Parts: sequence; C-alpha cells; structure tokens
Amino acid sequence: MRDLLVDGGVIRKLWIGEVGKYAAHLLRLDSNSRSNRFGGRVSDEFVRNYVGTISGLDSIVHGFFVDGILRGAAELRSFGRALPNEAEAAFSIEAPWQSHGVGSALLERTLLAARNRGIKLLHMSCLAHNRRMQQLARKFDAELTFDFGSVVGEVTAPQATPVSLLREFFADGHAFATDALDAQSRLLKKDQAASG
Ligand SMILES: CC(C)(COP(=O)(O)OP(=O)(O)OC[C@H]1O[C@@H](n2cnc3c(N)ncnc32)[C@H](O)[C@@H]1OP(=O)(O)O)[C@@H](O)C(=O)NCCC(=O)NCCS
Repeated sequence: MRDLLVDGGVIRKLWIGEVGKYAAHLLRLDSNSRSNRFGGRVSDEFVRNYVGTISGLDSIVHGFFVDGILRGAAELRSFGRALPNEAEAAFSIEAPWQSHGVGSALLERTLLAARNRGIKLLHMSCLAHNRRMQQLARKFDAELTFDFGSVVGEVTAPQATPVSLLREFFADGHAFATDALDAQSRLLKKDQAASG
C-alpha cells in the first residue's frame, strides 16, 4: 500500500500501551496547531485528561513516526453502541511535518479503517479558518462532503470488502516490518556512534 513511508517516516497503528506517546505528541503541538486540533485553546491538563479517555475498544489511532517518535496522528473514535455507524476523526501533525502529505496519508488510512468497521458517517470537526484541513478533506471529496464549521464525510463504500480488509491487514504488516527496520537502524546508528 502506498504512503506507508512519508517524508522518511512510518505510518502504523498505535499499539496498546502507547497512549503516553500520543499524549507527548499532542503536548508538543504548537499553540496554533493544538487549538486547531481541539477546536479552541486547551491546557496541558485538558490534553492529558483527553488522552486518558481513549480506550482501545472504541478508538483507532494511526501514527506517523520519525526515528521512533510520534510526529503525527489520526484518531478514529466511534460513538459506541448508540450510533454504531458513526465515528469522529481528528488529525494532528507537528508543525515541521505539516504540508508534506502526512495528513493525506493518515486520512487515507483512517478512511480504510472506518470502512472496514462499517462506519458510514465520519465527522471531522474543523474550525472555519482551518483552510488546510478543508483542502485536505476536499482531496477526498469523492468520499466526503463537508460544510463550513464542521466536516461531515460519508464513506462511499459503507461495507468492508475482502479486498479492503486485506489492504488494512497488509498495511499493518508492512508497517510492522518497516517499524522494526526503523528501530534496527536506530540501534545501528547508536552502535556506530558508540564505537566511533
Ligand atoms: C490539517 C492537517 C491535518 C493537514 O495535514 P498536512 O499533512 O499538513 O496536509 P497535507 O500535506 O496532506 O496537505 C493536504 C492538502 O492541504 C493543502 N495544503 C497543504 N499545505 C497547505 C497550506 N500551507 N495552506 C493551505 N493549504 C495547504 C493542499 O491542498 C494539500 O494537498 P496537496 O498537497 O495534494 O495539494 C495538519 O496540517 C495539522 O495537523 N494541522 C494542525 C491540527 C489541525 O488543524 N487538525 C485538524 C482538525 S481535526
């Protein structure tokens, strides 16, 4: 699957136990990006509490890792049993990695995951002045329709197909392999530095 490697990074799902990395990433966002991510200015404490509400049962977070550090994320959060076919998606990319195609790659992976879980309606809250997020949504306008204050996208193929399930499976497997390589190359770099 394309876009697994963007700008030297790796995109993969976050594992159980990696919420701390997610919190650290959200806390590193500059104030403008943080405010765009949360729809207004929020404190560090709010961010930590927010991450504490994430459960592996109703959330899938795809991460963009560079040298093992989480630099971007796309969170897909279902509304639970009350609205089983609806979910919310939210994106956060740290400033140096913005406008490098990371958001596009994360949205593509999020749409695939949503589709494979039978999500028919994907809500993306977005401040009216957030042109980049709107541009990003527009790129997928075959799959999404949206209005000003918020982006409400409809996943065109509401049902998972064997092919879409396989695409997600292979994307996860490939990301695992490249992530392992990434870790290995960091270890090698460390060894070289120690011996040099
Ligand atoms: C909004 C955000 C997710 C977009 O991700 P990104 O990786 O920066 O976006 P991409 O590089 O994939 O670009 C997507 C599209 O936006 C547009 N775009 C890119 N940079 C732009 C800029 N500086 N100004 C306006 N539009 C821009 C382009 O149309 C681009 O598509 P193209 O490169 O195919 O032409 C990211 O910038 C971000 O996390 N911002 C802070 C938090 C936020 O706003 N979250 C959204 C609320 S949920």
